[in-house]
Amino acid sequence: MPVLDIVGPLTARQPGRPPAASGSAALRKFGARPMPPLEWNAEVERDTAHLYARIQNVVPSVEWPFFAPYVRAINALKKERNAVILAHNYQTPEIYHCVADFVGDSLQHAREATKVKADVIVQAGVHFMAETAKILNPDKTVLIPDVRAGCSLAEAITGEDVRLLRERFPGVPVVTYVNTSAEVKAESDITCTSSNALQVVESLGVDKVIFVPDQYLAKYVASQTKVKIIAWKGSCEVHERFTGDELSLIRSNDPSVQIIAHPECPPDVIAASDFTGSTAHMIDWVRKNRPKRVVLVTECSMADNVAAELPDVEFTRPCNLCPHMKRITLPKILDSLLNMKEEVVVDPAIAEKARRAVERMIYMKS
Ligand code: 13P
Ligand code: SF4
Repeated sequence: MPVLDIVGPLTARQPGRPPAASGSAALRKFGARPMPPLEWNAEVERDTAHLYARIQNVVPSVEWPFFAPYVRAINALKKERNAVILAHNYQTPEIYHCVADFVGDSLQHAREATKVKADVIVQAGVHFMAETAKILNPDKTVLIPDVRAGCSLAEAITGEDVRLLRERFPGVPVVTYVNTSAEVKAESDITCTSSNALQVVESLGVDKVIFVPDQYLAKYVASQTKVKIIAWKGSCEVHERFTGDELSLIRSNDPSVQIIAHPECPPDVIAASDFTGSTAHMIDWVRKNRPKRVVLVTECSMADNVAAELPDVEFTRPCNLCPHMKRITLPKILDSLLNMKEEVVVDPAIAEKARRAVERMIYMKS
């Protein structure tokens, strides 16, 4: 059924406001390290050859001498700092395949964050993902290599908006997409991700929910459930740019092409697709079905990461870049580990409330 209502911003906001970073508690605790040598030489080439082999069909050999010294330095420093790098599926191949300890979608990241043994977590992703890692690991040091790596969805709603929504719709539970600030999660009953949104909505056993902030994910869930959904007028600036018309054109040129889309896309895009799922579900679909040609209707680096693994599959554009994900680079990851920055700090009272909403999702019975 269609969503019941779409509500817009209820409070004033400052668009583009960067998420706040902390002072230098992590630097005081762990100390800085000197910049390692970063030249390309025979030793670096030999030490990193096994990593280049993973990405050689998507990263030209002329580019590797620029990446390899950073890859080697980061991997050495991770051990010295007892750090792990959690990388989202939208990170570039040299990060995803060569320095990450764990890769996945938002739900997999949240689950992994509950199991980390290392002292330091470096989040190669966007700020809300780093905040989720911190919420689940209040005693660990969580770093994000560029604190400006935000998200248009996380910017779309505030904690005050959620409080006002509750006043407008008393007694209706709030399901919040993880692409939100800790403050918004703290005002929510439960979080969800693109891979479990339907199950989360249905797990509550109610006939109506408030679902924030992605109006398109809300519409996608509403199309599959009898639960009435009150949505919020937020959207992903990357996925909302795709259109059903561009996909129809691709299909008319090659009717055998497989089109798979992320549920943050508008309904006409989803209607023009053969499969819809979270980034991890999209990757699993390609691994399992091995189509000859496929369009991943999502962020561009994901196709590169899967193409590195599956050279027989042809990945056809369109794709759109996420400017926030692309703020994370090898030089910034190295700087992050050398200088313990930027440390992610969440107010303990907010973190405690947000943790309840996130853990309710993680430990939900499926
Ligand atoms: P996933 O949880 O599907 O990886 O989505 C995160 C995201 O930011 C998509 O734009
Ligand atoms: Fe946010 Fe969209 Fe970028 Fe994902 S792709 S981080 S939802 S702006």
